[in-house]
Amino acid sequence: MNILLLGSGGREHALAWRMARSPHLSQLFIAPGNPGMSLYGTCLPRIGVTDFAAIADLIRREQIKLLVVGPEVPLVEGIADYLREEAGLKDLLIVGPDARGAQLEGSKDFSKAFMQRYGIPTAGYKTFGRQSYDEAVDYLKTLRPPYVLKADGLAAGKGVIISEDLEEAQRELRELLTGRFGEASTRVVIEEYLHGIECSVFIATDGHGWRILPVAKDYKRIGEGDTGPNTGGMGSVSPVIFADETFMKKVEERVVRPTIEGLRSEGIDYRGFIFAGLMNVGGDPYVIEYNCRMGDPETESVMLRIDSDFVELLERMASGELGDYQLEESTKYAATVVLVSEGYPGTYAKGKPISYPHEPTFDSALFHAGTARDTSGHLMTSGGRVLTASCLGSTLEEALERCYKLADQVHFEGKALRRDIGQDLLKLS
Ligand code: AMP
Ligand code: GLY
Repeated sequence: MNILLLGSGGREHALAWRMARSPHLSQLFIAPGNPGMSLYGTCLPRIGVTDFAAIADLIRREQIKLLVVGPEVPLVEGIADYLREEAGLKDLLIVGPDARGAQLEGSKDFSKAFMQRYGIPTAGYKTFGRQSYDEAVDYLKTLRPPYVLKADGLAAGKGVIISEDLEEAQRELRELLTGRFGEASTRVVIEEYLHGIECSVFIATDGHGWRILPVAKDYKRIGEGDTGPNTGGMGSVSPVIFADETFMKKVEERVVRPTIEGLRSEGIDYRGFIFAGLMNVGGDPYVIEYNCRMGDPETESVMLRIDSDFVELLERMASGELGDYQLEESTKYAATVVLVSEGYPGTYAKGKPISYPHEPTFDSALFHAGTARDTSGHLMTSGGRVLTASCLGSTLEEALERCYKLADQVHFEGKALRRDIGQDLLKLS
């Protein structure tokens, strides 16, 4: 089976790495891809993830049977709907929801109202539009700090503001409503702050059934001890010690089942991944957010722990035939440490030469995120998050030790990383 994977980050590299081990894969095409992914397939660097017409041509030309969409933007922009209308593509299998399903991530207001309709535990909230600043402030005043403000639409991971101070929250609110993120923030969700510890749950669904992939935790802040600004993710681990059988039973009954059943009852045929960002509040799961895709850098750890045929899982999801698929999960621990360019998430240099030790194996990999080749083929930095060191171990300590050893063998000017990935969980164990 020929497969097209859309995306160019560490998440997509990890997906490609995992797919490459499947006997069901014939040829893999990746648009636009990155230098690390070219080990597994043909990268098409000139085709962007929202170049729908070029993607449709590619699918016809290369007889692609299965499309796997990595990032959220093409899904929210309706790539699945677009391709289904295209001549000759009616049998194309797609992992990723249509635009209505992608609203779970594309609109915070939609996802909050959805959770409320189906009794899925989440923080109390209200949504306000441009004209209702005064009402929004009145609502803010009924809440206790910290105050949580969320731009309704996609804001490249920057749309959530958490503030301890009412006056600052009011200022932020005014800026959001006057269009800091353009259309994405013409509506703002204000919600209660949830106290607890987070984890990321990935649901693979064919629209009827589901499998819950290995649970992961990511580390979003730039600084050790979870300090400083948010980033696209500085590391991840899987499994997560507190996501034990009792907790996961609650997740399945209170979150996963009503989410899948809710989508069905709204007439949304959701075939793809649902990422539920959960807060564990005293042993009970609350949904902080949904995403319509896998997480990054969680996927890098999660892929290391999937032992069953991943391409078969993708094909069954997209064809609505999850049936009796046996998801086999490794009992080992996985960890991912992200190597970033100094200065990230602010300004940073690009074009720094990279050297690194080895090509990936089945239990240890350097996944590329922000790399490029110069005209002579040398590997260079090209983004804030450059590479991830991702490894398995018999214990979390061992997985982390292997990651840091691998990370230390990578060299580029300005390399920065967090040395405390997973330490919070080790303290709980
Ligand atoms: P999101 O983009 O919705 O994942 O939000 C980014 C981060 O803000 C989350 O991962 C949480 O750490 C935090 N956050 C969002 N909503 C809440 C909430 N209601 N209570 C506490 N923390 C939150
Ligand atoms: N790791 C969080 C995300 O992918 O949104």
